[in-house]
Amino acid sequence: MEIHLQMLQSQIDYTTGFYSGTSRDSFSRIHGLMIQAEQEAYDHFMGLSYLLPAQAEALLRLADMERRHRKNLEACGRHLHLTPNLEFAESFFADLRQAFQEAATNNRIATCLLIHVLGIECLLLAVHENYIPVADHFSRKVTESIVDDKYSHFNFCEGWLKAHFREVKNELKLANRQVLPIICRLLDRIQLDGPVIGISEQSLVEDFTIEYDRALSNIGFDSCEILRMLSHALIVNQVDSSYNDYRLFFKTSVET
Ligand code: FE2
Repeated sequence: MEIHLQMLQSQIDYTTGFYSGTSRDSFSRIHGLMIQAEQEAYDHFMGLSYLLPAQAEALLRLADMERRHRKNLEACGRHLHLTPNLEFAESFFADLRQAFQEAATNNRIATCLLIHVLGIECLLLAVHENYIPVADHFSRKVTESIVDDKYSHFNFCEGWLKAHFREVKNELKLANRQVLPIICRLLDRIQLDGPVIGISEQSLVEDFTIEYDRALSNIGFDSCEILRMLSHALIVNQVDSSYNDYRLFFKTSVET
């Protein structure tokens, strides 16, 4: 694995081509969304600490970890003289943020936790794992440590959902119907920029799907239920004509 990474990295020139021109624009969007994801995660844990006061101490610790991740990722950008595109990143997460805030306002804790697990942890784990092979040495070390920390976030969220699975199962199915199509759009959007900086489109989708399956089965769903839940997003996005407009809009904005 280490030799494979070194071979890949030896083929990448970090000072020219890879981080210049349109590649640099793509990289600043990917870098921006990785930073913003940590901010969204921080906001989630802060919000959950009010919804689950008995676990506030653990949640504030997790929020603090997310704040540290954000700072470390910002350092990666400075190291490469790269400005993250945070304006893009904030709009990237807007729909997911709105879904989380609506759920929090209505005290739907299970929905909040599922949005966090699928929309932040699973999605970003797929991004991080595919970014590591193409990252410079400094960013690779930082990203690897963030991936290691992810399991403490998964453990808290999945642990709570597993413990309350019987009473929240239907709520989780509804939440999945609402947010999985949004997450698939985000994944699609990442696929437009990812390959420009060497991230494999196919591997991104594979890794997200593996994490999605792992998370839902840890919570308590069986494999048939997970497949049904996963296929829902595909159907929703296929029949939604605005989805194709959305793809076309971003594809054009990347190519111009
Ligand atoms: Fe994090």
